[in-house]
Amino acid sequence: MNEVAIVTGAGSGIGRAVALRLAESGKTVILFGRDRQALQETTDSGKGDFIIVQGDVTNEKDIAELMKTAEAAGGVNVLVNNAAVMPIAPIDTAELPDWKATVDTNLMGMLNVTHAVIQGMRARGSGHLVMISSVAGRHPFPAAAVYSATKAAMDSFSEGLRAECAAAMKHGGPSIRVTTIAPGAVSTNLTASIRDIETRSHTEAYYASMTSPLTPEDVADAVQFVIETPPHVCISDITMRPTEMVR
Ligand SMILES: NC(=O)c1ccc[n+]([C@@H]2O[C@H](COP(=O)([O-])OP(=O)(O)OC[C@H]3O[C@@H](n4cnc5c(N)ncnc54)[C@H](OP(=O)(O)O)[C@@H]3O)[C@@H](O)[C@H]2O)c1
Repeated sequence: MNEVAIVTGAGSGIGRAVALRLAESGKTVILFGRDRQALQETTDSGKGDFIIVQGDVTNEKDIAELMKTAEAAGGVNVLVNNAAVMPIAPIDTAELPDWKATVDTNLMGMLNVTHAVIQGMRARGSGHLVMISSVAGRHPFPAAAVYSATKAAMDSFSEGLRAECAAAMKHGGPSIRVTTIAPGAVSTNLTASIRDIETRSHTEAYYASMTSPLTPEDVADAVQFVIETPPHVCISDITMRPTEMVR
């Protein structure tokens, strides 16, 4: 039977590239995100077995719907936690709702989907959780303290979960792998969620100053690589940057 993968935030950028790559490699890919049209454009731009579920990682009902669809497809083998927002701003102009949206989406959203998926993986005896983190989680940059904190929390949660799954496996439990992939600058529309005009133009200028930022496909290559290693190999962490990126 085909393996099933969920990709959150599959309507654009890295999520779209990962969804297309996993479908190409023969997985049934469930695309999750808030914008149905964007998810549809992902499926229209590739070949493979796709299922669209429109929803929000912060909404429990949407996640229940996602799980119903995933179980009907045979259960989840791979979850790629990719959905995130980055409405960064300096401390003096930062809006609390933006901080809340960042924590709710990047941290709680990731936990919501992980919690929903992991029991099924345990019951079936295996699974792979791939977390799209960020270099910003290890090297926070000005105006992005909260965004960076959500990525650092993702890293910490992932390593804790990996260790717990490994310990359970030693006692006859399921084989569940956890991988964190932390890219540096990737050419996507992530900066569109920056509402502070000065921060947005500064951040866009930083991306534009790079000769060759990473592409979403570069990150998709890394996701495919970690998934396709033999089951006894768990690549727990990949940090990848444009070669010209300093921090
Ligand atoms: N671009 C970079 O330089 C960079 C660097 C390091 C790490 N990353 C990470 O890479 C991941 C993908 O970002 P990207 O660069 O590809 O930017 P992007 O194109 O803006 O992708 C973010 C995706 O998340 C989805 N999303 C946001 N809030 C959501 C919610 N509440 N529920 C469901 N989906 C939601 C968005 O779709 P909808 O709006 O349709 O829901 C969108 O498709 C993120 O985790 C980001 O932190 C990016």
